[in-house]
Order: sequence, then C-alpha cells, then structure tokens
Amino acid sequence: MTEQLLADWFAAHPRLLVITGAGCSTEVGIPDYRDEQGQWKRPQPVTYQAFMGDALVRKRYWARSMLGWRVMGQAQPGRAHRALALLEQQGRIELLITQNVDGLHSAAGSRSSLDLHGRIDTVRCMDCGRRLARSQLQQSLLARNPHWAQLYAAPAPDGDADLEHENFSAFEVPACPHCSTGMLKPDVVFYGESVPRERVEQAMAALERADGLLIAGSSLMVYSGFRFAQAAARQGKSLIAINQGVTRADDLLEFKLEMDVGQALLSMARAT
Ligand code: OAD
Ligand code: ZN
Repeated sequence: MTEQLLADWFAAHPRLLVITGAGCSTEVGIPDYRDEQGQWKRPQPVTYQAFMGDALVRKRYWARSMLGWRVMGQAQPGRAHRALALLEQQGRIELLITQNVDGLHSAAGSRSSLDLHGRIDTVRCMDCGRRLARSQLQQSLLARNPHWAQLYAAPAPDGDADLEHENFSAFEVPACPHCSTGMLKPDVVFYGESVPRERVEQAMAALERADGLLIAGSSLMVYSGFRFAQAAARQGKSLIAINQGVTRADDLLEFKLEMDVGQALLSMARAT
C-alpha cells in the first residue's frame, strides 16, 4: 500500500531533487543526530567560533575525531546510497543534495551529488587554504599521540564515556603540512558557519528544473536543508519524505512514509 503510493509519486515526478540526511547512513553504523521526535541526541556540537578560538577545544575535537575515524574511515555505502546511485543512472535525479559529510553517496557511484555541509574525508588549512586527505592527517595524529593510538587500537567497551578522564591538553595536533604553520580544520560546515553561497545557488537552480523534492532520512531540522523544502513549497512543487520520525517540513509534505529509507528507495530503484 505505502510502496504503491511511493511508486505512483515516482511515476508522476520523473526528475527529482533529492535531499538526504543522517538516516541514510545509520544502517552502516554512522549514528544520526536526532531521535524520532526531532530532539538532539548527541553531545553538544563544537561551534566554529569555539574551534577557531580555543586550542583546547581543537585538541578535544581532534582526539575524539581520531578515535571516531575507526567507524567513519571504514564505512561503506548502504542500501539507500546504492539505490540513489541506481536512480541517478536511470535518469531520475536532477541533483542529489546531501547534508551528510561521510561521502557515501559518491562512494556508491552518485555523480551529481552536492555535499552541502562538506566532506569529513578532507581537511583544509585555514591559513593557506590548501587541502589534504583526512587519512593522511590520521597517520600523523596516530604517530604523534601514542597513548591515544593505543585507545584507537583497543577501544574501551563503553566507548566515549571514559574519555572525560583523559588529558586532552597533551594531545598534539599537527600544523598544515603545506605551509607548515596553518591551523587545520575539517572541510565541513560547523555550527555557527554558513553553507558556501555557490552550493545553495547550485541546489536552488536544480530545484527550479526538478518536478518534485524527495527528502530521504532527514529530520530537516537544520535551516540549511529546510530552506529547499520551503522553496519547493513556494514554487508549488510536490515534496514528500521517507523518514522514520518527525521532520521540520511535515506541514509542507504531500505525504510521508515512515519506513526504512534503504528499503523504500531500493524497491523504487528496482521497480523502474
Ligand atoms: P537527523 O539526525 O536530524 O535526522 C535523521 C532522521 O532519520 C531522523 O528523523 C531519524 O529518525 C531518521 N532515520 C534514522 N534511520 C533511519 C532509517 N533507516 N530509515 C528512515 N529514517 C531513519 O539528521 P539530519 O537531518 O541529516 O549538520 O541532520 C541535519 C544536520 O544536523 C546534519 O547535517 C548536521 C546536524 O547538525 C552539520 O553537521 C552542519
Ligand atoms: Zn597551510
């Protein structure tokens, strides 16, 4: 019944703008940010201002990030990513906008994807602007911090809970390898930072050309993604969501399927 509704909508809207979120990657072990009621469920995120202004904040960030790379660095695409790559091959997707920084849509083969919030596998120097691969920085973080490298090799059973007893101030973060002094930052949009304007313009232009907007695995609580739902509604375009839980766009939706996003998208990709 519900899949039929989705199939009919797909048939009626042949060129889609798709916006994806963390719900597309939970299946492959990357946790989402909010629960089904839309409430934040992770530790407080680091803001851009705190990261740029406080060396201890940066040390804590990179220490945790170095350990978290165990999951993030190994993750492989899941069903939602594979299904969206298939739908693109079938000519169904005008543009895939993702709020995720994990790069898994590209890894699954999506070509026309826009990383709205950047990519966690890339690091940028805040002085010279040059980039380097996060995996290269990971080697350097492990080499400079043998105590943390041990934690990386043998994770504590209760994960991050133990980390508060650690001495973060001793954690060493290398400077940019290109200019040798610059401060490194993950190439992702932090809280307190805005999405680069050209990305928003590219997404808005694609929305103009699309017949409908599909929201997949996102609460859309963050304005940077929500604005596309607002714009679609203003243009009188149909928008739907496949999401287990509330979305900020609920009032604007033609309908919402509260089902597993990987399962739903794969059945659409196989049906066409
Ligand atoms: P959220 O965590 O806010 O929303 C993910 C949604 O997916 C939730 O409603 C989950 O219930 C739902 N969900 C989880 N697994 C699912 C599954 N298998 N099938 C269907 N639904 C599922 O994540 P986003 O909306 O992506 O920003 O969050 C947007 C932004 O908030 C992120 O990009 C991040 C964060 O602050 C930045 O880092 C700048
Ligand atoms: Zn530099």
